Amino acid sequence: MKLYINTKKEEGTINPEIYGHFSEHLGRCIYGGIFVGEDSDIPNVKGMRTDVVEALKEIKIPVLRWPGGCFADEYHWKDGIGPKEQRKRMVNTHWGGVVEDNSFGTHEYFELVRQLGCKSYINGNVGSGTVQEMSEWVEYMTFNGVSPMADLRKANGHEEPWTIDYFGVGNENWGCGGNMRPQYYADLYRRYQTYVRIYDPDKPIKKICGGANVADYHWTKTVLDTCFDHTPDFLHGFMDGLSLHYYVHPEGWEIKGPATEFDQEVWYKTLGKALYMKELIERHGRIMDQYDPEKKIGMIVDEWGTWYTVEAGTNPGFLYQQNTVRDALVAGVTLNIFNKHCDRVKMANLAQMVNVLQAVLLTEGDQMVKTPTYHVFHQYRYHQGAKLLHSDLTGEDQIGTFDWSVPEVTEAVSKAENGVITVTLNNLSYDEPKRLSVYLTDGKWEVEEATVVTGEVHAHNTFEDPETVKEVAFTDFESTEEGLTVTLSPASVTMLRLVQKA
Ligand code: AHR
Repeated sequence: MKLYINTKKEEGTINPEIYGHFSEHLGRCIYGGIFVGEDSDIPNVKGMRTDVVEALKEIKIPVLRWPGGCFADEYHWKDGIGPKEQRKRMVNTHWGGVVEDNSFGTHEYFELVRQLGCKSYINGNVGSGTVQEMSEWVEYMTFNGVSPMADLRKANGHEEPWTIDYFGVGNENWGCGGNMRPQYYADLYRRYQTYVRIYDPDKPIKKICGGANVADYHWTKTVLDTCFDHTPDFLHGFMDGLSLHYYVHPEGWEIKGPATEFDQEVWYKTLGKALYMKELIERHGRIMDQYDPEKKIGMIVDEWGTWYTVEAGTNPGFLYQQNTVRDALVAGVTLNIFNKHCDRVKMANLAQMVNVLQAVLLTEGDQMVKTPTYHVFHQYRYHQGAKLLHSDLTGEDQIGTFDWSVPEVTEAVSKAENGVITVTLNNLSYDEPKRLSVYLTDGKWEVEEATVVTGEVHAHNTFEDPETVKEVAFTDFESTEEGLTVTLSPASVTMLRLVQKA
């Protein structure tokens, strides 16, 4: 098998936000996973777990979506401001029926964003909220003058406005966000977004319209038909992104399947389903191209990842699952797809950041483990902001089972501003290594750094053995006249950094 890299052919910029994350008031994502409160024995800064914040900074988290998810369309932001002891206590009806004490609200979210040094992505409430409520929230967060909401923010201890980088107008409004039909939601989008005011023209809020569930192309078309306006300044503050949600359920939505027990058939089925992301992006993208050929509206894949049966003994509404080498491969192939579609995909948010679904971190009390997925995000951090390079794999076969065949290897290649090339390679085989010759167009290149995330396919990290799967140095390569040869371990995600020889 051969990999050709054209070092001169740049095919777009990989927006750092493609490596984004998602945090919802769901299970132990916010409470316990991120926020423990200032009085906790767990080391924290203003209530945010130090171990979690430090780990997320290591993967250069670029953006964090909050407060949901389905929770967003039930969230009333005024419940989460002011003195904590006076905040409303209520039941989180959607997720596990537990008490939500609103101790993590707007101020706490922006404190977290500050500590992480990432962009903000607030998801507003269309399903059960009013236009006034959404408009006042934006005023509360961003208005820098005299106004009822700005004054309230100041009275609550925050003089300066915050920056909202992205604002989602509703979530899954075809489902938990109100069970709407696309025409109806699209009309609401037009109306609600009007009142997401951009008070500071130097800090424009990128508005995200709620997009389709998986392959609902009718939704995409209807929403764009209703919302897309062909006047030249349509995009200014109207619609900067259209979302897409897609989860991998190995055995389908009803059964899902366990996180750590699967056979070869299910391995390939899972990876085949992860690869379906490519078709979704391309087909939704073709519809978007009909309206927006210049690709000014970003596709925002703001929920993606694996969704398994919850771990035994945990609250089914908490969506807590383990994370194996299989998840590392799902992350690797999906991120490579996003990279290769960076002309349209402008943001993606893995669901979810801590303790929920395909989490990068799991916590238990004061302990924290990094999952195999975390290590892939660490490997891929070099792609953030880099130029996608043209690359082609030739001579590869399909592998897998009769029903689920997948390519042997997937790849993405980018070049950073300093000229260093990052190659990320996934060997999708359950049990076979793969030898690959890499050719680069332009002079000689040498490997500056190389790492791999691999292991027995079911391997995962626990609080007793937190380092069973981790990123380790990769040495199975040799330099050649035209590039290098690489032998990829079975079930592996490999990252190579190449520098040009003088
Ligand atoms: O991520 C879990 C849930 O999945 C989100 O709340 C919802 O938007 C989606 O259905």
